[in-house]
This record gives sequence, structure tokens and C-alpha cells, in this order.
Amino acid sequence: MARPLLQVALDHSDLKGAIKAAVSVGDVVDVIEAGTVCLLQVGSELVEVLRNLFPEKTIVADTKCADAGGTVAKNNAEKGADWMTCICCATIPTMKAALKAIKEVRGDKGEIQVELYGDWTYEQAQQWLDAGISQAIYHQSRDALLAGETWGEKDLNKVKKLIEMGFRVSVTGGLSTDTLKLFKGVDVFTFIAGRGITEAKDPAAAAQAFKDEIARIWG
Ligand code: 5RP
Ligand code: MG
Repeated sequence: MARPLLQVALDHSDLKGAIKAAVSVGDVVDVIEAGTVCLLQVGSELVEVLRNLFPEKTIVADTKCADAGGTVAKNNAEKGADWMTCICCATIPTMKAALKAIKEVRGDKGEIQVELYGDWTYEQAQQWLDAGISQAIYHQSRDALLAGETWGEKDLNKVKKLIEMGFRVSVTGGLSTDTLKLFKGVDVFTFIAGRGITEAKDPAAAAQAFKDEIARIWG
């Protein structure tokens, strides 16, 4: 079982804040995410800045794209995004168009990730696989967590089932280093942390603490 990657999500409301955080943690993490909140504020210029700062890193545009997949993927890929997210309720044609466009610009590195929110089924998941999409993001929404939802066995079972189906599964939503041990023994592809890193007093130390805990648990 490979050691899970660490991705930082930059969900700042301003470009400056996102860049400052990226500069402090970019070398510690494996993947850098242009977060939805910041993309909605400043657009894909954020992706362009991250690509220029980190030419060799995997950069994700967390667009949660629901439509116009080809256009949105082309625009973000041209700014430097390797991966882009589509929301799980997007149609298969939207996801296929996004996948085609991101691969046209980024080649084999280009991938689409399906963001799992709300209602979705394993039948749909099989359709995503059949469409050539092999990454899924298992998400506890910020608002669900604020409403009292917690990580637990129910999440673990869904993550395991998706992995069994053949997905590389990322896990995210209010993660702290304490949450990670719940996934011990599970072949998680990437842990995505936003506020747990960027709102820490020392973001670089917080990112390193995630890396250390991942190494402790997964070896
Ligand atoms: C929210 C997101 C966030 O980027 C993701 O949940 C990570 O952020 P945090 O760790 O702060 O919850 O995509 O929709
Ligand atoms: Mg995100």
C-alpha cells in the first residue's frame, strides 16, 4: 500500500492570502489546490500564479464543475492545472468533455476528479469509471461538519468500497492530524487539508505534522 499524498487546499478569499500560504507550505505538500472559494473570487489567475511558483508540482483546480466541462477544463489546464474537479451530479458528457480537454492540454498528467457531495450511487460511480475517470474525492462538506456531522465508520465503508471499485480516492473535509488514524489500513490516495494547515499559527509546521502522521500510520 502506497503512502497517501498530502494536498493543501487554498480556500482564501483573496489572492494575496492564498499566495502567502502556498509559498510557506508548497515545498512540504505533494499537491497544491486552487480552492473553490478562492477560484470563485479571483478566477483561474490563481492557478497560473501557483503554476509559476511551483513548476514541478501537481496543481489542482477545485472548480467543482457542473457544466461546460470542456471549456472550464481547457481554461484551467492552459493556466497550468493538472487535475480539475467535477461535481458528482454533473452529467457524463460534462465529465467526458472535461477529461478530453484537460488531457489535450496536460497530456497523461491531466485528470478529472469527481467530488462526492450529497446523493450519489455506486451505479453512477461505475459510469465515471467507464468514462475513464479514476479519481474520486470523498468529502464531508464544511457545512455538514458545522452542523455537527463527524467522520466515522460510515465514511470509511464508502471510501473502502470506492477503492475496491478501482478509484484512487482522496479524503477531505475539516481534517486534522487526529482524523487520519481512522483510515489506518485503508489505501487512501490523498488527504486534502485546508484550514487545518492554512489557519494554523505556523502553516509549514502544520503541513509537516500531517506528513509525519501519514508516515507514522502508513510507513
Ligand atoms: C470545500 C473544499 C475544501 O477545499 C476542502 O474541504 C478542504 O478544506 P478544509 O480542510 O478547510 O475543510 O473543497 O468544499
Ligand atoms: Mg477544495
